[in-house]
Amino acid sequence: MPIGPDMPSLNGQHAAYIVDKLRRYARGGRQAPMMGQIATSLSEFERRAVAEFLTICRP
Ligand code: HEM
Repeated sequence: MPIGPDMPSLNGQHAAYIVDKLRRYARGGRQAPMMGQIATSLSEFERRAVAEFLTICRP
């Protein structure tokens, strides 16, 4: 999602990396208001699904 300079592109990133980041946001281990809300709204299954999807997107 290369929307702007402050928002990292995740296309082609490893699924395990993305899931790990989303879990951290969801647990509050990493603070980022927008990502905290998004990550907590997703179930574990959805976090994995979105990570798998981003993995197969071209970088
Ligand atoms: C399903 C939608 C989304 C997913 C799966 C997602 C996933 C992620 C992940 C995995 C990171 C960590 C990247 C890294 O540290 O390398 C991240 C960071 C970030 N995302 Fe998202 N994101 C989503 C939507 C959004 C939206 C809608 C916004 C803003 C409107 C946003 C703003 C940001 C920002 C600002 C960061 C950097 C925060 C920080 O410094 O920790 N994301 N996102």
